[in-house]
Amino acid sequence: MRLTGPFAQIITMAGLPLKGALADEQLEVINDSGIITNEGKIVAVGNYEALLAAHPGIDTDVRKQPMVLLPGFIDCHTHICFDGTRSRDYAMRISGKSYLDIARAGGGIWDSVTKTRAAKEQVLAESLISRANRHFQEGVTTIEVKSGYGLDAYAEIKMLRAIKYAAQHTPATLISTCLAAHMKPRDYEGTEQQYLDWIITDLLPVLKEHDLTNRVDIFIEETAFSAATALSFLEKAKAMGMALTVHADQFTAAGTAVAVQAGALSADHLEASTDKEIALLAASDTVAVVLPGASMGLGMPYAPARRLLDAGTCVAIASDWNPGSAPMGDLLMQAAVMSAAEKLSTAEVLAGLTVRAAKALGLQHTGALQPGMDADFQAYETTDYRDILYYQGKLKPATVWKGGQKIIM
Ligand code: NIG
Ligand code: FE
Repeated sequence: MRLTGPFAQIITMAGLPLKGALADEQLEVINDSGIITNEGKIVAVGNYEALLAAHPGIDTDVRKQPMVLLPGFIDCHTHICFDGTRSRDYAMRISGKSYLDIARAGGGIWDSVTKTRAAKEQVLAESLISRANRHFQEGVTTIEVKSGYGLDAYAEIKMLRAIKYAAQHTPATLISTCLAAHMKPRDYEGTEQQYLDWIITDLLPVLKEHDLTNRVDIFIEETAFSAATALSFLEKAKAMGMALTVHADQFTAAGTAVAVQAGALSADHLEASTDKEIALLAASDTVAVVLPGASMGLGMPYAPARRLLDAGTCVAIASDWNPGSAPMGDLLMQAAVMSAAEKLSTAEVLAGLTVRAAKALGLQHTGALQPGMDADFQAYETTDYRDILYYQGKLKPATVWKGGQKIIM
């Protein structure tokens, strides 16, 4: 057992409603506080002196700098397993070229597929580990990572094996998702329906057998898969025991209805969602995941986070870190900048990065600082938690703990 502290403030994120708008007054803020951990779990959180008095002789890690402690962030949507960059796409996009111009010049998702297919598994794993480590240092202790730049059996399995290997070589927890349904590969000769059937009958059984993932994603969009084919794909994947998530309503409002109907854990993107999709999400258990990094990378409007929260939705915020639409990969900066535009409270942003993101991944043991939860947390050198968004992502955590261990990188 170890007592860490004192902290100027601990923001526990405990006891918050998982859906709807939040006011900062709803946050539990414990001043002059400490946290006791044991074997990777949180034992107690409270006033430092009181914890010390209640546990005479406890091992202590005394913090000399005043700091604010938060749960580690959870990035519930990334594509950080890939090879190559897409800076050519980006340069074309900022000079005004259209999606089609870029695709014709050999850009887009297919460009990353070509590069990722050509990369060795170990090379993919190494670059993934370095991205995960960078994220971890910035306070992100749990990271979802999608496949989806393989799009054939060999390369999808290679990506998921690289993710499994990387998970053993970074302090962050990595949670993999199969996104073989990212687009119909250009070299696949059958129909969209046949490709999705192949994923269900051939690919997913192998992924399950080798314990490579238990989550499935699909990109529903005019340029990817239709809502009609996606629904039966998701239902079949669910019947195989897969948890579901959907790329929905990014450019056109297609996807949320299917995600909700299939009982997906989350519907992600939502930049093009209308009142109808917002109402569907609010009435459901599906988490709305907004991805400000994709809006920034594409120069497009943010998802309607404020309206989603006011309608009563559970909103999580993720980076979508990928080589195409969201190359920055700075989750805190993206969340902070979006919150200024969308008028989100600090409580809503922090919940979207912690407890609400945990719900998007179906995780019950992380996201809040309370007894029994994983001891994953991060400390910022300030005495006021509001500074964290105020500095718009430039104030980074000074120390990050995983399973109660202080990780120096
Ligand atoms: O979430 N929307 C589809 N997929 C990714 C982009 C992937 C890429 O362009 O490589 C996204 O934005
Ligand atoms: Fe994405």
